[in-house]
Amino acid sequence: MEKQLEAALNEQLNFEIESAHIYLAMAGYIATLGLEGFESWFMVQYEEEISHARKFIDYVNERGGRVNIKGFIDPENEFKSLLDALEISLNHEKEVTRRINNLMRIAYEVHDYAAISFLQWYIDEQVEEEDNFTKLIDKVKLVKDAGLYHLDKEVGLRVFVPIAK
Ligand SMILES: [Fe+2]
Repeated sequence: MEKQLEAALNEQLNFEIESAHIYLAMAGYIATLGLEGFESWFMVQYEEEISHARKFIDYVNERGGRVNIKGFIDPENEFKSLLDALEISLNHEKEVTRRINNLMRIAYEVHDYAAISFLQWYIDEQVEEEDNFTKLIDKVKLVKDAGLYHLDKEVGLRVFVPIAK
């Protein structure tokens, strides 16, 4: 395997672990909101990212490359809301997509057809990742609107009551 591609694969597998840390930190924040379902959802996301890293690690080893694990910067642990965490997640996934696309570009440049075939899985996975967060953001926004709709009805029931003489 070309050294340039090996280095790029290492960079990405480390970024997948960094992604896992980001979602684990988000799960911790969401737990404080009492949203057990979303906490569990983010824990699954964390596990997914670790599995993405593992898939890269196994591939680098399979190709006779050398895995090089880095240290990681601290993830953000504080967020404004569930929606804030979800929007940051979507932006993060867009960055992952950009990096995977760049990795694919390098594989084409060095004419590594096996790597192109391997990376196609990540290209497809990123379409799903971005779609997952986009749909979840839409749903959270819809629930908010629905809640406001009910409150609006309740508040609308108030009638003028003249002051008793
Ligand atoms: Fe990932």
